[in-house]
Amino acid sequence: MSHDRRNFLKAGVTLGASLLASPAFSVNPTPSNATANGITKVGKTNVKHRMLGAGKHSLEVSALGLGCMGMSYHRSFVPNKKSMIALIHQAYDMGVTLFDTAEVYGPYVNEELVGEALAPFRKKIILCSKFGFNIQNGQMAGLNSRPVHIREVVEQSLKRLRTDHIDLLYQHRVDPNVPIEDVAGTVKDLIKEGKVRRFGLSEAGVENIRKAHAVQPLTALQSEYSLMWRKPEEDVFKVCEELGIGFVPYSPLCRGYLSGLINERTKFIAANDNRATLPRYTAEAIKANWVIIDVLTEFGNHRGYTAAQVALAFLFAQKPWIVPIPGTTKPAHLQENLWSADIQFTPDELKGLNEALSKITVVGDRYTGQSAQQVRN
Ligand SMILES: NC(=O)c1ccc[n+]([C@@H]2O[C@H](COP(=O)([O-])OP(=O)(O)OC[C@H]3O[C@@H](n4cnc5c(N)ncnc54)[C@H](OP(=O)(O)O)[C@@H]3O)[C@@H](O)[C@H]2O)c1
Repeated sequence: MSHDRRNFLKAGVTLGASLLASPAFSVNPTPSNATANGITKVGKTNVKHRMLGAGKHSLEVSALGLGCMGMSYHRSFVPNKKSMIALIHQAYDMGVTLFDTAEVYGPYVNEELVGEALAPFRKKIILCSKFGFNIQNGQMAGLNSRPVHIREVVEQSLKRLRTDHIDLLYQHRVDPNVPIEDVAGTVKDLIKEGKVRRFGLSEAGVENIRKAHAVQPLTALQSEYSLMWRKPEEDVFKVCEELGIGFVPYSPLCRGYLSGLINERTKFIAANDNRATLPRYTAEAIKANWVIIDVLTEFGNHRGYTAAQVALAFLFAQKPWIVPIPGTTKPAHLQENLWSADIQFTPDELKGLNEALSKITVVGDRYTGQSAQQVRN
């Protein structure tokens, strides 16, 4: 067993034990000056931490990160920038240290928003971004992870993010035209140059995870994982555990569905919402999958949890190196989601939930067309 691997397991055991022993929230030792800027503080709370990755490639982060994409991209209504900056400040004040964005969100505008919002406490947080798409005239035009392009994207992202380094840089999708070793080698060079700290992949399959990790150890794999999409449990969790790679579930609430607030009458604004075209958000699929919401609601009602909280807590309960990044535009949802890190299931509760959920077959593919071809490669 390698030294890194041992450290990873040790960190997992220690964190697992501390998760059981300590409450999720404590006094925040580093509150921002947000109140001085006129931003309402929700409370001086601090979510507990988890470890992504192993040894010198690890990152300590809040147990739950904040996915910032929906503040400007793919989630219908775009709230005004000022209120989203205030929300990011609130997240920081509440103990969130992991913030997620990407070049392609917008494109560009989400990185600008996140860069502006996080500038006052840049050194105290973990900033994550991604490269890997070919963006032409503001539209996605396939993939591009050629080394020269990765370098160009990173230079532009650094400017938009108002920083001299990206803490965790992900390849957004595996590019079939560029060997993964070349991608990993380019990020390795960027790490040597100090422009990037850690490396991650998104939606990569087991083979590419291994190949990339051999060149530049990965800190995290960011892929879709929720009660509506549990495929990672079958294969990539094993390789993550073996190699000491953290797992960051994206869309952990299945783009809002698992909150129970989306129903068959919900209208998605097609110009800025991929749910308008995804099979899981048709009225038929929404109705057919409602049995999942029933399970979550029934479980939560007896314990004082919302469906969203049960859905997130279920992910936390799987492995100590899982760090979900739910997105929100609302302070109340941010608070609700953060509290889910404090929920601990008894073994019987987890077994009961698993049994109820395993009887359900989810209706509707998670992606179609080109998007479907670009995942799990
Ligand atoms: N690597 C990738 O390819 C990839 C792909 C997609 C996303 N991501 C990352 O993952 C992050 C999260 O993913 P996501 O936004 O697709 O899905 P998500 O986190 O599963 O869901 C976000 C949606 O759920 C709603 N929501 C959040 N908390 C809620 C609560 N407690 N109650 C009710 N509704 C709630 C939000 O609406 P409100 O604003 O109303 O709260 C939002 O519309 C993104 O921000 C992005 O950073 C990465």
